[in-house]
Amino acid sequence: MNELDALVDSARAGFAQATTPADLENTKAQYLGKAGRITELMKGMAALPVDEKKTRGAAINLAKQAIEVALTERRQALADAELEIQLKAEALDVTLPGRQRGQGGLHPVSLTLERIEAIFGSMGFEVAEGPEIESDWFNFTALNTPEDHPARSMHDTFYVEGGSEKVPNLLRTHTSPMQIRHAVQHVKRHRVALDAGQPMPEIRVIAPGRTYRVDSDATHSPMFHQCEGLWVGENVSFKDLKFVFTDFCRTFFESNDLVLRFRPSFFPFTEPSAEIDIQFQSGPLAGRWLEVAGSGQVHPNVVRNMGLDPEKYIGFAFGMGPDRLTMLRYGVNDLRLFFDGDVRFLSQFR
Ligand code: FA5
Ligand code: MG
Repeated sequence: MNELDALVDSARAGFAQATTPADLENTKAQYLGKAGRITELMKGMAALPVDEKKTRGAAINLAKQAIEVALTERRQALADAELEIQLKAEALDVTLPGRQRGQGGLHPVSLTLERIEAIFGSMGFEVAEGPEIESDWFNFTALNTPEDHPARSMHDTFYVEGGSEKVPNLLRTHTSPMQIRHAVQHVKRHRVALDAGQPMPEIRVIAPGRTYRVDSDATHSPMFHQCEGLWVGENVSFKDLKFVFTDFCRTFFESNDLVLRFRPSFFPFTEPSAEIDIQFQSGPLAGRWLEVAGSGQVHPNVVRNMGLDPEKYIGFAFGMGPDRLTMLRYGVNDLRLFFDGDVRFLSQFR
């Protein structure tokens, strides 16, 4: 075997040993690179006589071509192998059973809040939202509950640092501060009409949201929901409260087999005040009285803090517990289940 055939063979063997493209390029350099064997052979021809140069040159070129062919084949083989590995790694077994995508849904209390908003919306109530970190003023004082008022101890309040009369310093214990916040905005919007002695459009609003108290058992959670309702105008009476709330309960529970009881109670911001109890006439809860809300006629001092004349404006307010409504609607006996985040429980409400 001549020297050039041996060179081609050794290049083929070298290429065959290269197992990665990088290996292969290194091996290639040994033969075809600037300092490679072929290049050296070319340089070595300089000393030869002209006619020998021709034959020698042609022979070296043939060897060079053979090496290039071997290189191209090996490159292709390595690329094919790599593709093969990749295809295997990404192999898809289309016969495997599918993985199910879990179906999401709204939280049961959110479902209740949506129902509340829809039902009151159909009765012409707007929906307002307000801050959960509230000031003493809106949570208590403006609601006719001054600093030293014993009713403050009815709520076990979470206080936060700082605070002054109008600066946030507590987690709201009820949604009632929204009565003041919303009414003040409403009055501001209609200031011009009011000052001109024209009638003000009635305030008719609900304010759902989170509320907080230092409280925890099967029917009390430190974070819970309330939904405030407020209707103020020149001729709004307790009769309207009874009508609106009865209509709401019957629609909410999809039952006319339901009676309401207004049980005298006390709230500093309403006078007279009543707890609203409902009683189902049939079904698993039949016969029991269940408290669903506090309510009453808005106290004159509160009407004044809304920026209105209590001699002219009158109305009622109520504050209900959507968590309790959800428990009653779905027959859930422990409020804390709503806030544990257990998917097995929550997925039943989809
Ligand atoms: C109030 O909070 C008054 N602001 C309601 C009100 C508004 C009266 C407007 C008059 C006018 P009360 O503390 O009773 O009242 O709470 C109202 C409702 O919130 C209760 O009926 C109950 O459904 C719910 N609730 C109260 N505390 C908790 C708690 N810790 N966990 C779950 N629900 C609660
Ligand atoms: Mg109560």
